Amino acid sequence: MSYDTLLVDVDDVGIATVTVNRPDKLNALNAQVMDDLDHFFETAEREASIRGVILMGAGPKSFVAGADIAKFKELDGASGKAFADRGQAVFNRIENLPKPVIAAVNGFALGGGSELALACHLRVASETAVFGQPEVNLGILPGYGGTQRLPRLVGLGIATELVLTGAMITADRAYAIGLVNAVASPDELMEATRTMMATILSKAPLAVAKSLRALRVADQPLAEGLRVEADLFGEACDTADFEEGVDAFLSKRKPLFRGR
Ligand code: COA
Repeated sequence: MSYDTLLVDVDDVGIATVTVNRPDKLNALNAQVMDDLDHFFETAEREASIRGVILMGAGPKSFVAGADIAKFKELDGASGKAFADRGQAVFNRIENLPKPVIAAVNGFALGGGSELALACHLRVASETAVFGQPEVNLGILPGYGGTQRLPRLVGLGIATELVLTGAMITADRAYAIGLVNAVASPDELMEATRTMMATILSKAPLAVAKSLRALRVADQPLAEGLRVEADLFGEACDTADFEEGVDAFLSKRKPLFRGR
């Protein structure tokens, strides 16, 4: 897999490390990055050799410093809506991947960069990471899902504060408000992220995929979410991995999951 704006490396256990690679522009998201992300995640869904994805930014300074502001002068009402629709579609594809996606946030995660991290299933931040939704400084609001995913993750009050003030916050505050799952030193960021991914990949793959689907509807009315959960639970009970997991527990041995 080769892309103009992404570096992709798939290791022997099926972890794809995807690096947004525009370090001279702090990995800002232009149309090419969005096309490349869209294509990669479409491929990742059907490619059995990819079992999980770690997303990061190139260089020591930035995860993704937002959408490419250089292109903003071209936007008017109609093209601005299309721009937001396109970004939301790409980020929805990431969120809907039935395999775990972890953002390794190695620096600035601003605007669309913060929203990209929010579309991932989990986030591990470097101590040097900086998060923020600074769109109000430019006369716009988040358009790639920030007003919707941020409150779902950190609550409406703090999301409102971050979106209205455009404040940049540290990794420690991001951890304190539940925006990131873990914080590591810059040197240990990748190892911490890979350890989290390896833990998930040691579990039954279909159970992980079904868990992601059930968690996806956690913002629906409770009765609807519970219905989805029960349906998926039933499906999981029909898998060979369920039989293996229970048998392994009762035999006091490690399970060997096959994703079936
Ligand atoms: N879009 C386009 N280019 C961007 C960018 C973005 N979102 N963020 C940074 N860049 C570019 C800068 O224009 C600069 O390019 P140049 O060297 O050709 O002039 C390069 O990346 C380095 O950025 P610079 O601003 O010089 O680095 P800094 O360390 O002084 O500041 C930031 C870092 C992140 C604080 C600052 O770049 C910034 O505020 N970026 C915009 C963040 C933002 O508002 N994002 C949301 C957009 S909706």
